[in-house]
Amino acid sequence: MGVVERLELLYAIGDGEGANRPGLSAAEEEAHRLVGGWMQEAGLTVSRDRAGNLYGRVAGRDPTLPEVWIGSHLDSVPLGGRYDGALGVVAALEAVASLMERPERTIAVVAFRDEEGWRFGHGFLGSRAVSGGVDAAALDRRDRAGVSVRDALAELGLGFEPGASWLVPAPGAFVELHIEQGPVLAGMGVAVGVVDSIVGIVELEIVFQGVEGHAGTTPMDGRRDAALCAATFQVAAAQVARGIPAAVVTVGSIAVEPGAGNVVPRRARLVVDARAPDAARVAELEEGIRNAAARAAGEHGCSLEVTAAAHVAPVRCDPLVVEVLGRAAQSAPHLASGAGHDAQILGAAGVPMGMLFVRSLAGGISHSPLEDTTKADIAVAVGVLKRALPELCTRLAEASR
Ligand code: GLV
Ligand code: MN
Ligand code: MN
Repeated sequence: MGVVERLELLYAIGDGEGANRPGLSAAEEEAHRLVGGWMQEAGLTVSRDRAGNLYGRVAGRDPTLPEVWIGSHLDSVPLGGRYDGALGVVAALEAVASLMERPERTIAVVAFRDEEGWRFGHGFLGSRAVSGGVDAAALDRRDRAGVSVRDALAELGLGFEPGASWLVPAPGAFVELHIEQGPVLAGMGVAVGVVDSIVGIVELEIVFQGVEGHAGTTPMDGRRDAALCAATFQVAAAQVARGIPAAVVTVGSIAVEPGAGNVVPRRARLVVDARAPDAARVAELEEGIRNAAARAAGEHGCSLEVTAAAHVAPVRCDPLVVEVLGRAAQSAPHLASGAGHDAQILGAAGVPMGMLFVRSLAGGISHSPLEDTTKADIAVAVGVLKRALPELCTRLAEASR
């Protein structure tokens, strides 16, 4: 079965329109089982760790050398596309299964858990788990139905314990192939690109607390309307991001209480996702957003609570991995990633990492069923991985001498 057919089978999991495979859900579990079966059929040695991450290994000629890991994630946002995450796992499996020679060192195809993070408000669960970045508090986070990360893991039979890094022994490198999720490669007319850096992300939970009142009898002056705070804040936050080159901010979730058309809202809870390419711009953006929230609260007589749900550091890809991918991709352009990826979590934990992007169609739309690429571009990307992996195995040895 080819990559595209496999992606269709993964896309068909879950209900309704688009991909619907929330992290640690039955749908994500089904995707892991399906891919685990494909790994087995391909002759890989399959295992999963205590966070539920899936590994399929091809044993190398020298098992004492640090492994090369290659993969991505199998969960999706609600109404997701066919390619985000899934392409990186399925294409890695295709490339590794069709290597002509036994590699010098062991290669593991990896599928990480709950990369998207929207269910529990904290992404990259699997890659954080392997690199020691999941503490007890992260396990107490709950989804909208009140299910905690701890309970969701237990439901899947996963005895996860927070604590020290599991990257022992650490892989020598991690490679992640991903759909670009943007318009750059299509604009250049090329099938693939090599990523040189990955964006920094700050996720804030902002709560405006006002006073409820009758929608018809409470005069406009003197209202303490939490939803009006939220609206004022959102416009101001967008202005802050526009003032910082390449920064973006998104308010992707707003919950208003009590949520009745004839009641002035007393509470608004917002989830703010703010991103910029380097640490200085991330800090400037976060400060501007916090100030905008304080101004909005002051203007409408509301109190304010801001909690940082997540900080993900911007990272640069490893020069050796970038070079190897670049040679294998035959003068493909380099570009920055505005999306977060498991690769950046491993990179921040000290694993040399790099990424290959595959051209997005449909204007680069992603986190949507409209997400698109072509079979031909996927074939180009798999070819790049097949050339890059053996070279990476060798070059890592040279680099460590
Ligand atoms: C992952 O898809 C992200 O939010 O960048
Ligand atoms: Mn995504
Ligand atoms: Mn992804």
